[in-house]
Amino acid sequence: MINSNETAMFEEIKRLRQKHEAIILAHNYQNNEIQDLADVVGDSLALSQIAAKTAAKVIVFCGVHFMAESAAILSPDKTVLLPAENAGCPMADMAEPDKVLEWRQKYPNAAVVAYVNSSAAVKAVSDYCCTSANAVNLVRNIPEEEIIFLPDQNLGQYVAKHVPEKTIHLWPGYCITHHRITVDEVTKIKELHPDALLLIHPECRPEVTKMADFVGSTSQIMKYVKESTATKFIIGTEMGIIHGLQKENPSKTFYLMSQGLICPNMKQTTIEKVWQALRDLKPVITVEPEIRSKAQVALDRMLQFV
Ligand code: 13P
Ligand code: SF4
Repeated sequence: MINSNETAMFEEIKRLRQKHEAIILAHNYQNNEIQDLADVVGDSLALSQIAAKTAAKVIVFCGVHFMAESAAILSPDKTVLLPAENAGCPMADMAEPDKVLEWRQKYPNAAVVAYVNSSAAVKAVSDYCCTSANAVNLVRNIPEEEIIFLPDQNLGQYVAKHVPEKTIHLWPGYCITHHRITVDEVTKIKELHPDALLLIHPECRPEVTKMADFVGSTSQIMKYVKESTATKFIIGTEMGIIHGLQKENPSKTFYLMSQGLICPNMKQTTIEKVWQALRDLKPVITVEPEIRSKAQVALDRMLQFV
């Protein structure tokens, strides 16, 4: 529920959005009211696609730092704003460029596939980027037979399972939110709701994804629910997705796997911060040109696999 102060800011955001020819992009994990005010709500891949081709002059990215950074790489002529300036991604911080270069020396024939949840500097020393929506398709179809997959070991293992013909070296990173889900938790919630389908994000541990009826990115989960004739679903990803699921499917029932499924960084965006960002046109996210041009090669390749 938004209060009267927020309603006034909401109106002001609409006016400023028009004035600055801005587009507001929000990830599926954002707070409900941010999803409601955004022009587009989506997964990392969909938001990158829009950031790459939008005609807007200003991109307001309601998400975390690597997402705004990717938008700045893909659309260098736009002003990219990240209202929640300190919203980072702990998993993205688990890979550093120097370490990636060490792994490159260790596995000289391997291509580096960086999950988009990584810094621009890491993307710049990688060959390809991917998201959870296209990781399997990309790894399967690139010419290299040997891959360094970083930073998410769980998504990497999910890819390795689906592309057994390739050798995949896994980086030991993980998402603190998804990695927390255990088999015990899944077993218990399945017992509570035996007639519900289990939908899981591939950032979860392999033993958890193994139990799922469907594994996919946030937007793939949304699409699955919309097209399914089932009416009850257990959701194994960050809680923000429940808002979009309920909006799109008012007659269906959703059970969040666990109340701990919250990404504090994604929750840092508020209506006030979006209003301030549009009012002051900051914080602006930029990437230094040398890193930007190298990272763009990897990101452009990501956009070729949907
Ligand atoms: P997707 O929306 O691409 O599935 O993203 C998951 C995620 O954790 C983003 O940080
Ligand atoms: Fe990073 Fe996980 Fe939060 Fe996504 S949900 S931003 S991967 S910590």
